[in-house]
Amino acid sequence: MEQTLDNKQAELKTFIDGFRDKEHFESYLIAVLHKAQEIHGYLKKDVMDDIAREMNIPTSHIWGVATFYHYFNLKPIGKYKISICLGTACYVKGAERILNAVKKELGIEMGDTTPDELFTLQITRCLGACGLAPVAMINDKIHGELTAEKMVDILRKYRKAAMAEAAEKAKEQQ
Ligand code: FES
Repeated sequence: MEQTLDNKQAELKTFIDGFRDKEHFESYLIAVLHKAQEIHGYLKKDVMDDIAREMNIPTSHIWGVATFYHYFNLKPIGKYKISICLGTACYVKGAERILNAVKKELGIEMGDTTPDELFTLQITRCLGACGLAPVAMINDKIHGELTAEKMVDILRKYRKAAMAEAAEKAKEQQ
């Protein structure tokens, strides 16, 4: 079952408390940020403020660390992370058309997440599947030989699957 915000905050606080009696308490900041991202999905501003308070570290320093390491997400990440390959082979075969089709279908720009937190749009360099260009990856799955229409179709299938899954979960909770 999904955790409430209070539970999430309590879990992070317990994690931080585990380091309190250690020497150089503040040096555990990266571990704490990892845990915060695992719990919340991304590093929200108010979560960073909480960490700042709990660890007695200025928020500006925490923000600096979080933006320095690319594996920290400062915005929400959708259930499905779409990576459109803009490597040379894909670009030549029309990757930009695929990218534009995704933007139009989802109504978002690069780096954004749909308001329902289902899709996040990113670009990437060669995924090593040039023979299938143009290519996109959705989470860990490669989709190749794409056309704009095929890409839109794939997105709609993912959305349908997510809706069916949510309906199933709602039924189980009744
Ligand atoms: S350039 Fe896209 S997979 Fe290689």
